[in-house]
Amino acid sequence: MAASVRKYAKKSATIAIAKPASVASPALPAGVPDAWQRAGMRAVVLESRRRRRLPPRVAVAMLLVACPDPAVVAGFLKQQRQTRQIVAWRRVIARHGTGCGIIAKLLENRAVEPLRDDLASVIELFDRAAAIDPVAAMALHSLGDAGELERGSVEVMRWLKQRRLLGKNRRLLDLGCGIGRMLPVLAPHCARVDGVEPVAALARHARKHCRDLANVEIHRTDGRDLAKFPDGSCDIILAIDSFPYLVAAHLADLHVAESARVLAPGGDLVIINWSYDHDAATDRAVVRDLAERHGFRVLRCGGRPFTTWDGELFHLRKRRR
Ligand SMILES: C[S@@+](CC[C@H](N)C(=O)[O-])C[C@H]1O[C@@H](n2cnc3c(N)ncnc32)[C@H](O)[C@@H]1O
Repeated sequence: MAASVRKYAKKSATIAIAKPASVASPALPAGVPDAWQRAGMRAVVLESRRRRRLPPRVAVAMLLVACPDPAVVAGFLKQQRQTRQIVAWRRVIARHGTGCGIIAKLLENRAVEPLRDDLASVIELFDRAAAIDPVAAMALHSLGDAGELERGSVEVMRWLKQRRLLGKNRRLLDLGCGIGRMLPVLAPHCARVDGVEPVAALARHARKHCRDLANVEIHRTDGRDLAKFPDGSCDIILAIDSFPYLVAAHLADLHVAESARVLAPGGDLVIINWSYDHDAATDRAVVRDLAERHGFRVLRCGGRPFTTWDGELFHLRKRRR
């Protein structure tokens, strides 16, 4: 089975096995998962055991990627041993029928797909996803709930604040800002905040979101580099769930180099999720290597410090020389 397993782009649902489009399902009675779906859902249960804990919404998003029918997922969970976490997952499905339906719709419309290796297909993917549900497009585990997304944003902001990475004299760049959910949360704690976003529909949402914030600007770029920003012009670059797309489009190395150029000496590059390849050891080795090559010290290389989601955190600091 391993050879035919495909890893899907998931925005925060960090593993999922889903059936390739080319594999036909046998006709099964309604409500019965096929072998691929069952294997995908079992993989989520095993992954959750391996990690000891998965935030329930993250687990449900992963289950839906494996099997985009909430009723079938609920049936599968009913058959599992009713541990505390399985009960919590069942509760999420029971309470968030609409949100689970949104994820199913994103999947049906190919708005959550295996990442292809070019920027144009990444942009198309987000165009499709934004048209269905811009909030869920940012993080599947939000299940389309803006309040849940904001709880995650506040958790990241607090992590940054506790490490004194924010401040009234700090200029922050949000790389791949999407609908701009982080910007209102960060703006009161920074001198200025620039959001960079290559997808037109998302940049429009971000502008709307931030229209009353005097110290925020959204830049629609072509996604190839940070050429708009002069050398040493910012103090912290935050990239939440955007590096997996840069990795897929072979632009990650260049963006680490660009970050080193745009950051002032001593500036911070905070990356949450490097890739969706699900090989943590490789991700960490790659980040360490790039950090070394582009003049960063590694202050943190992996680990999942958040409670609302399972983002893996990397913190690099530009050497002062
Ligand atoms: C999963 S979304 C996360 C958005 C936002 N950071 C958040 O956490 O809400 C990934 C974002 O990365 C952006 N992205 C993808 N490729 C990019 C590139 N080459 N340059 C900048 N952003 C990119 C996407 O357009 C999208 O907004």
